Amino acid sequence: MVERLRRGLEGVVVDETTLSDVDGSTGRLVYRGYGIDDLAARASFEEVLYLLWHGSLPTEAELDQFREAVAADRELDSTVRELLAGLAADDEAPIAALRTAVSALSATAPTDATGAHDRADTRRQGRRIAAKVPTILATYHRLRRGQEPVSPDETYGYAADFLRMLTGDPPDEVAADTFDMALTIHADHGFNASTFAAITVASTFADIYSAVVAGVGALSGPLHGGANQDVIEALTEIDDATQSATEWARTRAESGERIPGWGHRVYEVTDPRAEILRTKLEALSDADGDRRWLEYTRAIEAYLTEELSFLEKGIAPNVDFYSGAVYHKLGIPEDMYTPIFAMARTGGWVGHVLEYQAHNRLIRPRARYVGPTDRTFVPLGRR
Ligand code: COA
Repeated sequence: MVERLRRGLEGVVVDETTLSDVDGSTGRLVYRGYGIDDLAARASFEEVLYLLWHGSLPTEAELDQFREAVAADRELDSTVRELLAGLAADDEAPIAALRTAVSALSATAPTDATGAHDRADTRRQGRRIAAKVPTILATYHRLRRGQEPVSPDETYGYAADFLRMLTGDPPDEVAADTFDMALTIHADHGFNASTFAAITVASTFADIYSAVVAGVGALSGPLHGGANQDVIEALTEIDDATQSATEWARTRAESGERIPGWGHRVYEVTDPRAEILRTKLEALSDADGDRRWLEYTRAIEAYLTEELSFLEKGIAPNVDFYSGAVYHKLGIPEDMYTPIFAMARTGGWVGHVLEYQAHNRLIRPRARYVGPTDRTFVPLGRR
């Protein structure tokens, strides 16, 4: 009997995990058993990293120690800074610069990364990568603008220090808390494409740098993390008044193009992370009195749900539909949105690799061969 193909591994369960659970029919997401709403409202991103990597919430002392260890690793060495300067001169996209810089981090690792042979080493080097990603991105952004990079400051938390290094000014409390929350809700999401890519690489006993590079590469595509940038580009187009939000949605849908920020392989209902970001966007819009982004997203949502019955078809807003508008309110440049997603998701990639290494099995699926089988070779000059 010929086995049924599951293109895109849709619905295929390939392993067990205790990191996160995505319930697509009820729209519930948990990390290690804790609801995402709770974590978004009450935990710092460092606490979430600890939770994902260690399995339980840290005590105060454990968190202090963990924070210090992450903060102590934030500084970049000259190899990576010079590499970033070269990439900035070539105007490389930030997500590609991040991919290249993460790869280069292994060159200056205190010890060679050892892959699955030593999980304690994966944990240490994974923490080192996670600590440096904000510095890489902020440094890169400033270099391409011809600005002097801002060094990390251990007295700031992970999220706040990124915003400070990016803009040169310490963020206010609302910005720091909002960004911290955004990192938390993007940190993990089951066996998504980038996580699976990272695990696949790690399953060969390759080191954690290679696994995270694979994760960044997979995340960069518009069907995955790249969608948040597509959404903000659409909102900006609408804001430039070339067409109303409803017209934009109609034109896009009628041309058969996908609506960025809508639809999900697992969720049949609204993504709980989208709900959190929508509420945050409402609060930020009320606070600054600028309700444009909120109105555009609402108009698109109304058209898609009322005119095209998207929700009934199981196509609902995903995390990317509102994240861009929230980042825009924080003054973050658009092409940093996907890299920020990578910053958060590094936590998930490292966590899943650690979990996988505890019971490693080489990932090696098969494809059914459907090509010809008995052709006769014809030499070059006779073809
Ligand atoms: N806009 C319009 N239609 C969409 C859609 C979207 N964003 N997402 C899914 N659909 C439609 C498909 O056209 C398809 O319709 P059909 O059966 O009539 O052909 C149906 O819904 C199922 O789509 P399918 O491609 O099988 O779903 P998937 O599981 O492969 O897709 C995504 C998941 C995320 C790739 C898809 O929803 C998408 O491309 N979304 C836009 C990009 C995005 O926001 N990505 C971020 C995800 S967090």
